[in-house]
Amino acid sequence: MYLVDPSSLAPDFWSLMRSMMQLLQRGLLCLTAFLASAGIFTDGASSKALGVQGASAQYLLGLGIGDITGPVVETNMMGYASLSQVDTGLHMRQRSRAFIIADAANPSNRVVFINADIAMGDTGVRRSIVSALSSEFPGLYTNENIALSSTHQHSGVGGYLEDLLPQITALGYVNQSAQAIVAGTVLAVKRAHASLAAGKLSLGNTTVVDGNRNRSPSAYLANPAEERARYEYDQDKDLTLVRFDDANGNARGFLSFFAVHGTSIYENNTLVSSDNKGMAAYLYESSIEPDSMPGNNTFVAGFAQSNVGDTSPNTLGAFCESPGEAWDGQPCDFDHSTCGNKTEDCHGRGPGFRISDFESNKIIAQYQVDGAKTLMGQQLTPITGPVKWVHTYMNMSFRSFTLPNGTTVQTCPPAMGYSFAGGTTDGPGAFDFIQGDNSSNSQNPFWELVKGAVTPDPDQQQIDCQFPKPILLNTGFAHWPYEWSPNTVDIQMLRVGQLVILVMPGELTTMSGRRMREALRAKLISEGVLGDDAYVVIAGPANTYAHYVATHEEYSVQRYEGASTIFGQWTLDSYIDKYSSIVSYLADDATGQPPSDPAPVDQTSKAISLQARRLLNQTGVVFDAAGIGRDFGEVLTDVRTSSPYTAGEAVIATFVGANPRNNLRLEQTFLTVDQLVNGQWNAVRSDSHPSTTYQWTRTSTILGTSTVNITWVIEDGTPSGTYRLTYFGDSKPLIGNITPFVGHSSSFTIS
Ligand SMILES: *[C@@H]1O[C@H](CO)[C@@H](O)[C@H](O)[C@H]1NC(C)=O
Ligand SMILES: *[C@@H]1O[C@H](CO)[C@@H](O)[C@H](O)[C@H]1NC(C)=O
Ligand SMILES: *[C@@H]1O[C@H](CO)[C@@H](O)[C@H](O)[C@H]1NC(C)=O
Ligand SMILES: *[C@@H]1O[C@H](CO)[C@@H](O)[C@H](O)[C@H]1NC(C)=O
Ligand SMILES: *[C@@H]1O[C@H](CO)[C@@H](O)[C@H](O)[C@H]1NC(C)=O
Ligand SMILES: *[C@@H]1O[C@H](CO)[C@@H](O)[C@H](O)[C@H]1NC(C)=O
Ligand SMILES: *[C@@H]1O[C@H](CO)[C@@H](O)[C@H](O)[C@H]1NC(C)=O
Ligand SMILES: *[C@@H]1O[C@H](CO)[C@@H](O)[C@H](O)[C@H]1NC(C)=O
Ligand SMILES: *[C@@H]1O[C@H](CO)[C@@H](O)[C@H](O)[C@H]1NC(C)=O
Repeated sequence: MYLVDPSSLAPDFWSLMRSMMQLLQRGLLCLTAFLASAGIFTDGASSKALGVQGASAQYLLGLGIGDITGPVVETNMMGYASLSQVDTGLHMRQRSRAFIIADAANPSNRVVFINADIAMGDTGVRRSIVSALSSEFPGLYTNENIALSSTHQHSGVGGYLEDLLPQITALGYVNQSAQAIVAGTVLAVKRAHASLAAGKLSLGNTTVVDGNRNRSPSAYLANPAEERARYEYDQDKDLTLVRFDDANGNARGFLSFFAVHGTSIYENNTLVSSDNKGMAAYLYESSIEPDSMPGNNTFVAGFAQSNVGDTSPNTLGAFCESPGEAWDGQPCDFDHSTCGNKTEDCHGRGPGFRISDFESNKIIAQYQVDGAKTLMGQQLTPITGPVKWVHTYMNMSFRSFTLPNGTTVQTCPPAMGYSFAGGTTDGPGAFDFIQGDNSSNSQNPFWELVKGAVTPDPDQQQIDCQFPKPILLNTGFAHWPYEWSPNTVDIQMLRVGQLVILVMPGELTTMSGRRMREALRAKLISEGVLGDDAYVVIAGPANTYAHYVATHEEYSVQRYEGASTIFGQWTLDSYIDKYSSIVSYLADDATGQPPSDPAPVDQTSKAISLQARRLLNQTGVVFDAAGIGRDFGEVLTDVRTSSPYTAGEAVIATFVGANPRNNLRLEQTFLTVDQLVNGQWNAVRSDSHPSTTYQWTRTSTILGTSTVNITWVIEDGTPSGTYRLTYFGDSKPLIGNITPFVGHSSSFTIS
């Protein structure tokens, strides 16, 4: 939430937008030519022109990647919603990966699945993406066939969500953050579109046993014993993979689904990163194209999120970090995840605990990579059949419906329970701001601003409806300064042949996901939409963020996931009811879309007007200064030149810096490691390699000075030779334009 005036947005951003427009115009011409030459708009004979033979290359497939990294400094990070988690630099860039699948025989039948490396989908961001794509490609990409799914990572840039509640710790809405996600995602889809070519799809699954753990086992145990007895684990261990091949059977990428929280990197980290799924994508893609800069590869590895609700990547379990107390180092209390009756000391540990959370991140990523490699090395089941989609909006406030046993129940306007404030073992107190916020020592100016409008007391109807949840925040009734929680959610399914993706607006727990998949699969078969090979997978949190979805038995226990099941105990059953009621729109010959509740209203204008009224005590970049006698990019602390470095060592240089919010350098980099080859410096690492970090430190607000540290931990196997570190910055003078500059360290050698 920074008062960034448009002139402070980097020229590179605008030139990127301009070149995107140009790309688009060219793309449109090419597409028209392509479609015409393929006779796509004339008749089914087009399949021949496309080189499609029978079912083997039944689809047109497009894959693309775009950089969505928002401001990497002075912005709250998204996921843990911790006020103190304000970013100070960059570990790995966030990216959207887009997958387009069109029916070759009828190419206007297409779906777009976007796997965005963000904490959750959002109505406002999705609206902007849909608007950009539907105006560029009228009739091809629509509100109905675009799915915006998130990896649910917790180390990215925040401030982009439209509803108020998740914004509070981000100090409100950060337009620059939302714009980066929109621009990079639209670019990913355009690149996917430009890459459309005949191809085939296949499908399989494998188990990834060590990749996740249930973080609320006491809630899982509330589910009926006979139901639990059907499953070996209290987590889904299956990784499902859809392989994308060209017409000759060469792999172009894949889209996989596996349920594990993006909380490998802890809440105390302040370097923007992509958590385990973004890391998995990097590891896989760089194994295929080792010489490409991250994000500049053509093979696209999609690691999408699934029924993530009660999953944790902290697979060693949760332990007390309570130095000096008798219970220090002991497992946390089973029912309440407390240590000495307090939540704060209870922390989940990842598999790399003895080394670092970044090591855990890599290990959990590698498990998913290994699962995907196993499947990519196998003969998978071909996907055949039409491309279909269905999308509608559902108002969850007091939605009345009938359970399969005939009992009529209803959902409720949103509310958060007390345990929501307790957080989880992955991060004590997601939205931790609530704790202590009924006192005067609140440290969050945004919360100070809005707490006069603290959610209205629930009336008896809401209390009864949400029972047995004790209501902490009655968000469904809070409309000032704008909506706190969504009442209306996106309901969406994508069908490709026998595969149906349930695109879900929240985080389903393990058992919720199982019930949802099973009910929908049965319905698809009983309605004759699909046969016995029907394969159903869950993706999300996607499109909008409607928090958690626990089973009604888990809800009764009111752990974090139950307390965050905002529409009451029948939330899951309502989704099952609604999704089931519209499966016929996925039938081979189905046309049109179901009736819809009104779409949620655009709130960004209200969010922005709040910003414009300068109610918040935050400023944009005022100006940068190098300091007396200094130049931007000048080296303050150099690399070691006296003796060679060896693998495993960290090379560090400190430069005279400028605020990176001046230019996000989307699709570019804040740093390179350059190698001297035949008298030429070649960039061999960027700011997206996990071995490099970019850290920015403001040294004087009054003088406008700052420093930048660039660090490279030399990987095993790095060729010996001569290298240097390069810093790319952009400075904003008090008067005048933002200007790029470059700084180089001295050269150093690796032996
Ligand atoms: C957000 O930024 C974009 C791009 O810079 C700009 O077009 C838009 O008007 C901004 N939105 C608001 C509400 O300020
Ligand atoms: C994995 O694939 C098998 C074979 O198609 C199927 O029976 C099973 O249900 C799949 N697992 C999941 C979780 O969908
Ligand atoms: C974050 O916390 C973990 C666990 O307490 C600790 O090992 C790690 O060093 C901390 N990281 C930072 C960046 O402070
Ligand atoms: C990205 O790849 C293209 C094509 O391989 C290449 O021309 C371009 O230089 C690469 N860009 C970067 C930043 O590596
Ligand atoms: C925790 O609470 C229980 C029940 O109130 C109490 O018996 C116990 O002494 C408390 N433990 C600590 C360490 O405060
Ligand atoms: C949602 O439904 C509730 C209850 O019927 C109604 O009061 C509310 O106006 C509806 N919201 C929208 C956006 O239609
Ligand atoms: C129907 O199922 C729900 C959920 O299990 C239960 O609460 C309700 O009592 C059942 N109704 C009947 C008539 O059995
Ligand atoms: C404020 O929080 C304390 C515990 O942190 C609690 O005991 C008290 O009841 C709360 N007061 C209100 C008005 O919610
Ligand atoms: C940057 O590097 C210098 C040494 O070059 C070090 O003293 C300083 O602590 C580093 N700053 C950060 C934020 O890591």
